[in-house]
Amino acid sequence: MARHLITSAIPYINGIKHLGNLVGSQLPADLYARYMRARGHEVLFLCATDEHGTPAELAAAKAGKPVPEYCAEMWQVQKDLSDGFGLSFDHFGRSSSPQNTALTQHFAGKLWENGLIEEVTEKQVYSRADGRFLPDRYIEGTCPNCGYEKARGDQCENCTKQLDPTDLIDARSAISGATDLEVRETKHLYLRQSKMRDKLDAWIDSKTDWPLLTTSIAKKWLHDEGGLRDRGITRDLDWGVPAQFDGAPWSGMEGKVFYVWFDAPIEYIACAAEWAEARGLDAAAWRRWWRTDEGAEDVRYTQFMGKDNVPFHTLSFPATLMGSGEPWKLVDYIKSFNYLNYDGGQFSTSQGRGVFMDQALEILPADYWRWWLLSHAPEGGDAEFTWENFQTGVNKDLADVLGNFVSRVTKFCRSKFGEAVPGGGDPGAREAALTETLETRIAAYAAHMEAIEVRKAAMELRAIWVAGNEYLQEAAPWATYKEAPDTAAMQIRLALNLIRVHAVLSAPFIPGAARRMLDALNTGDESWPDDVPAALGALPAGHAFSVPDVLFAKITDDDRDAWRDRFAGTRD
Ligand code: 2FM
Ligand code: ZN
Repeated sequence: MARHLITSAIPYINGIKHLGNLVGSQLPADLYARYMRARGHEVLFLCATDEHGTPAELAAAKAGKPVPEYCAEMWQVQKDLSDGFGLSFDHFGRSSSPQNTALTQHFAGKLWENGLIEEVTEKQVYSRADGRFLPDRYIEGTCPNCGYEKARGDQCENCTKQLDPTDLIDARSAISGATDLEVRETKHLYLRQSKMRDKLDAWIDSKTDWPLLTTSIAKKWLHDEGGLRDRGITRDLDWGVPAQFDGAPWSGMEGKVFYVWFDAPIEYIACAAEWAEARGLDAAAWRRWWRTDEGAEDVRYTQFMGKDNVPFHTLSFPATLMGSGEPWKLVDYIKSFNYLNYDGGQFSTSQGRGVFMDQALEILPADYWRWWLLSHAPEGGDAEFTWENFQTGVNKDLADVLGNFVSRVTKFCRSKFGEAVPGGGDPGAREAALTETLETRIAAYAAHMEAIEVRKAAMELRAIWVAGNEYLQEAAPWATYKEAPDTAAMQIRLALNLIRVHAVLSAPFIPGAARRMLDALNTGDESWPDDVPAALGALPAGHAFSVPDVLFAKITDDDRDAWRDRFAGTRD
């Protein structure tokens, strides 16, 4: 049994996330966490809301609410939606927690002591119309790198380049639209990442098994344009972690807060502390996941995120942890994702284009979305959601293959043998062949899951479902029953057991349907089919079951067309 620490990128608090956000971090992280638990490993799976910085302030202002009130409400909204999607976080925390404030200030203090933070007097954009500096998202303009016209002051979401507000062309205030901006001097703290470049470079080089998407982005930031730049880690904002350590303000830092990207990844650690506190556990309980001198040396830590988050997780956050000089656990594997596009364009939060988490659950159960999104995860390149593709995935994979198998087997058994696993008959060559196929495919499925090859795992799982259908089709117990009812009983006994195997294997992808399958089989046996012949005999003759309601309803052409129209434009 191993110990797995798993984190998903923590979503910004400002509003409900779309399905592209979901498939880029939280959902595959959940798949992995559920799989690791199913294999008997000890798992700590953490996520939280990212509550600081300009996204929160701007959204609260738009909602006409004080920022803390807005964040508390939106945390609950996001928590309910994660529950609705079956995201099995051990804790869903908040980056505005006291634990994160303390840890963020602790790290800043250590970095300062180690000469890795310096005070810099820099030029920032000031808006006279707004009476304030315009950091990060308070300013918009044209990206100097790719020409995208809605680039933000901290990063261009089109080309992922990290920016400074003064880099933007034709800059304007995101609050008032004012363009009469001027550059003023203000003092800030800088993280001297450049001093850590060689160490980070060697560390990335040691990660030979990481996805190319992850390492190529890290290498680009380490080497392009003269290498890793020092970055400002404080901002002229009201909302955030005060730029202090050990309670003492840096001189000239009064009224300033840490940059949201400085404190957000530290929330991965703070979230573990929040988890322990929520369960009445002591500090040792979370530190054994995070401190290599207190038990975390045998932890495997895996992070999940979209590609735009990679520079912060491969460079800035490791620089913070390494630079502290303390034995904090560093990430072992970073799984990153490309973007999911929506029906010929991009998902867009600002334009309300695409399907958002709340809307998705209004129209269909979570498993339909989970299956389609994971089986189309944007791993090799960007992927695209279309309603045709979604309809095909749900109808063919879930309804025709898995749902149909469960329905045919349970209904046939009820009609010929009653609602209990039938006895009699002996397995033969066909059953041996099926067993062999399952052994090979289950091993391949497990290998893909271990390697976090999400699409390949989904295809292997589907192939396992198909193998069950092919067996049933060839064995044809409905025909066998007339001549050799004992043989038909044996075939159905095996098929009922295969439903349990399907449920256990499928649970990481479609936990709701898996639960209904196990409930119908009247079993709490969720053990992994390590020994396939034994697993195919787990439910003995005489074991009672019931026929479940339809597992997956098909999506009609009318539904598909209506949903395409409904989600084409602006959110209501
Ligand atoms: O891109 C985002 O949604 C960020 N809120 C992710 C932060 S991940 C981490 F570093 F905490
Ligand atoms: Zn750009």
